[in-house]
Amino acid sequence: MLLELKNLKKTFKDNHVLKGIDLAVKEGEVIAIIGPSGSGKTTMLRNINFLETADAGTMTLRQKRIDMAAPTQEQVLWTRRHMAMVFQNYNLFKNKTALENISEGLIFGQNKSKEEAETLASRALDQVDLLDKKDFYPSQLSGGQQQRIGIARATVLNPDIVLFDEPTSALDPELVGTVLRDMKRLAERGQTMIVVTHQMAFARDVADRVIFFADGEIIEQGSADDVFDHPQHERTQRFLSAIAEDY
Ligand SMILES: Nc1ncnc2c1ncn2[C@@H]1O[C@H](COP(=O)(O)OP(=O)(O)OP(=O)(O)O)[C@@H](O)[C@H]1O
Ligand SMILES: [Mg+2]
Repeated sequence: MLLELKNLKKTFKDNHVLKGIDLAVKEGEVIAIIGPSGSGKTTMLRNINFLETADAGTMTLRQKRIDMAAPTQEQVLWTRRHMAMVFQNYNLFKNKTALENISEGLIFGQNKSKEEAETLASRALDQVDLLDKKDFYPSQLSGGQQQRIGIARATVLNPDIVLFDEPTSALDPELVGTVLRDMKRLAERGQTMIVVTHQMAFARDVADRVIFFADGEIIEQGSADDVFDHPQHERTQRFLSAIAEDY
């Protein structure tokens, strides 16, 4: 296994948001996580990347075992070098160009020279078909373009895993497809990905495994066909019939 979570728990005051999650991810696997609002999907990703500290749980990434409730600073930095996250609202630096947004992490995180960083960043921009926008600032780009730069920024560091938190949900409908296309390409290149999404058609098309998450727990998981066409649990059936979308 590339990544293994055991008994991940997180409580905010008396709100038990994550109730002991177990999850194992294989190298190259694409996992789609679906589930109702407030069920803890974002909290789970934030705990995996140590943007939030868990109450309990262990994470094993590339054979390295980390106590999620008490990670050392070194473990946090090590994890972040091996993982990248793509956020709903892109989180680009407003005062930096597309190229600078991508090359920054290579210069400061991986000690690359400016020249080498820019070469790698240009290649990453090309992979999302935005090389011609390299000198544009975020305000000069559409939401879809900004998010594709977010994807280029996440993947240029060559992470073991990319975590996506509803990467298309802030976009106008006509921009969603371009972002999903870049994510699909990434999956086809063998990138291990965990994608929280409401895009059921994408989950069916690209994910190796779909996980239905509700009330801080994994309720069921399987292939898209299993989960979408033959949901075993009433909670999953209720969710799928409520989203009123073709999938
Ligand atoms: N920093 C925080 N402090 C207190 N409560 C929080 C915090 N972050 C999340 N929560 C609570 O944890 C629960 C799960 O939130 P989370 O954002 O993980 O849900 P989600 O599944 O990502 O929902 P959505 O689909 O709407 O994005 C919610 O009840 C939320 O209010
Ligand atoms: Mg969320």
